[in-house]
Amino acid sequence: MEDSQSTTENLLQMYAKQDKINMANYWLLYLLSAFRTAPKSARILDCGCALGVFIAFLKRRGFTHVEGFDASPEMVEAGRTITGCDIRIADILDLDKHYAQASFDIVSVSNILHHVTDINSWGVIFDGIRRVLSPGGLLVIREPKRTPIYRTLEWLSKHPSFYFGPLTFRLQSIIEERAYLDYFFPHWYGAHAELLKAHGFEIISEGTSMGEQVLSCRRS
Ligand SMILES: C[S@@+](CC[C@H](N)C(=O)[O-])C[C@H]1O[C@@H](n2cnc3c(N)ncnc32)[C@H](O)[C@@H]1O
Repeated sequence: MEDSQSTTENLLQMYAKQDKINMANYWLLYLLSAFRTAPKSARILDCGCALGVFIAFLKRRGFTHVEGFDASPEMVEAGRTITGCDIRIADILDLDKHYAQASFDIVSVSNILHHVTDINSWGVIFDGIRRVLSPGGLLVIREPKRTPIYRTLEWLSKHPSFYFGPLTFRLQSIIEERAYLDYFFPHWYGAHAELLKAHGFEIISEGTSMGEQVLSCRRS
């Protein structure tokens, strides 16, 4: 399911800037996850890739087989122009329709689970990912976490005087995604390890970046 028009518009403007905070976050995702040690020939799928900025980042690091999809046609269209990545339009709940079994070695789910406000749908997503991953393949998940930095941003988001420069779109996205995040935090934290295990994934590393949790999981 697609996000609302205003959520998409805000994210589109934020990612189009490809600013230093955005790049620092991708570096942290890369360094804290299984990407750091993965072979450059690994077949990678980036789910909900927006404009494809992380796809372009991985290609610059030397990865040769990286593709992605997003549910928003507007995001995909802009991505083709801005990053030049060939991105498909697809819904993460329908992976079966778009990708063959065991066609990837690594699947990345970055800041998208919190857009799907239903714990049962997360199970559907993990089953779909399990199917498109090769045996022993890796799932990398990055999602918001209430770290001290994140809590500070939450506080700043309630005060319009802090809406300037690179903070603007980030604070706006906390407001835009309020309903998603109110569902996500209590349902994900505490339940995620069991949920992943129930759907055939073992967590092999866990890290915390500025305001996010980074998990690497192996498909059993
Ligand atoms: C916060 S952005 C994350 C972008 C990128 N993955 C990152 O971490 O920088 C969330 C993206 O997920 C996409 N999205 C939301 N629901 C989706 C769904 N059901 N299937 C595929 N993409 C979805 C949105 O269009 C948006 O581009």
